[in-house]
Amino acid sequence: MKPKKILFVCLGNICRSPAAEGVMRKKAAGLPIEIDSAGTAGYHIGELPDPRMRSHAAKRGYTLNHHARKFDPDSDFEKFDLILAMDDSNMDDLQRMDKKKSYTHKLKMMTDFCTAKKVSEVPDPYYDGPEGFEHVLDILEDASDGLLQTLNNKK
Ligand code: 4NP
Repeated sequence: MKPKKILFVCLGNICRSPAAEGVMRKKAAGLPIEIDSAGTAGYHIGELPDPRMRSHAAKRGYTLNHHARKFDPDSDFEKFDLILAMDDSNMDDLQRMDKKKSYTHKLKMMTDFCTAKKVSEVPDPYYDGPEGFEHVLDILEDASDGLLQTLNNKK
């Protein structure tokens, strides 16, 4: 497999994208894949993931210890091979920041890689109960498996 740099992007970088990072980090252990996450907003810069997300992820064996950061259009578009948005609003924000439309080929939805779940977005769980966080993890596990399969097929 060719080395790949993958960036997961959500709004706050404290729920969905750090969870995607943690799930993929575990599933891709030992592979030449560099993984990071970022938010389109800067409300939570420096914070660890939301305690609810950390606790639900921990029950499935994923340790989330990313510190939130804001997506940086000046460096992140260039640095990463694949930039995966969690929802349509994240994708709109990324497309807006890609002013010259130079990076369209790198921008995809995380759910594009789902094989079992029939969903088009990873929904924001911030105002949901525990089931929202479990639903996010179900989608992320499915999408991460699909993403790994895609990367393996491309070699
Ligand atoms: P995330 O969730 O985008 O999955 O990290 C959110 C976290 C915080 C907020 C919104 C969504 N917020 O409004 O503070």
